Amino acid sequence: MSYDLKGKVALITGGAVGIGFSCAKEILRFGAQAVVIIDIDETKGQLAAKELAEEFGPEKVLFIKVDVTKSDELEDAIKKTISTWKKIDVMINNAAILNDGLWELEIFININALVQGNLLGLKYMSKKTGGNGGVIINMSSIVALQATPACPIYSGTKNFVIGFSRSLGDFYHYNRTGVKVITLCPGVTDTAQPAQAESSLSHFLFPELRNLFVKEVVNVPRQPASSVGLAATSLITKANSGTVWVAEDNKPAYEIIFPDRTTLRKQ
Ligand SMILES: NC(=O)c1ccc[n+]([C@@H]2O[C@H](COP(=O)([O-])OP(=O)(O)OC[C@H]3O[C@@H](n4cnc5c(N)ncnc54)[C@H](O)[C@@H]3O)[C@@H](O)[C@H]2O)c1
Repeated sequence: MSYDLKGKVALITGGAVGIGFSCAKEILRFGAQAVVIIDIDETKGQLAAKELAEEFGPEKVLFIKVDVTKSDELEDAIKKTISTWKKIDVMINNAAILNDGLWELEIFININALVQGNLLGLKYMSKKTGGNGGVIINMSSIVALQATPACPIYSGTKNFVIGFSRSLGDFYHYNRTGVKVITLCPGVTDTAQPAQAESSLSHFLFPELRNLFVKEVVNVPRQPASSVGLAATSLITKANSGTVWVAEDNKPAYEIIFPDRTTLRKQ
């Protein structure tokens, strides 16, 4: 299932800063034709696009202001991508918030909008509906794989990403669509997200557990966002559909192996 990123067109949600921005940069370094950054933050999005345009060329970068919870905005951005470059090959559903104090919004962004991103990605990339096939990376987190009492809702949303992506990435879908669906679980990474959560007690359902969050998530060595960007490009090119990977401690990503339940289907 190897996939060549050269000449491909990628769209990244929440790509203005942090991990999403690093994914955009690495994808361009790997020879992609273009990257479309979509983000709710217009100022940071424009700055990100400017930086990438200076390094890789203005014809390779586009920023579109999108709130991923608004599916019409998301679809318009995909249509704009296709009208500009005649195709979309890669989609990284990366936008998320960590704020259990606003848990309904958190679920809406981290789950509903991610599902919508996948459905739209499939609509435009699937061979069944006239696309060329491609790759979807869904951003989960290491906190999906460990109990995280300080932010149980966030942890739950990231668990959803794993179950959803494994099922949508199963070969039953891949054989129909030609779209690989892969999950990436970053470890603690040096971006604004953990510090923002730490800065306000209102980000927690149980404020007395904020110190635990600081101990387990903030005060641990943080890898640079670039290592997650590198992991994403290596998964796009090499990982099989339906697989789940961890990128932590600034090391190459490793695969999580789940018990094989596919034999049950044959009974
Ligand atoms: N930083 C970490 O330690 C870490 C660890 C594991 C997983 N993750 C995951 O990686 C991804 C990126 O995290 P990050 O640390 O770079 O976060 P970040 O907060 O630095 O960046 C997130 C980006 O998403 C954008 N965004 C938020 N809501 C949006 C919306 N409704 N519509 C469009 N854009 C929106 C923000 O404006 C921002 O640019 C997230 O899915 C996060 O949950 C982060």
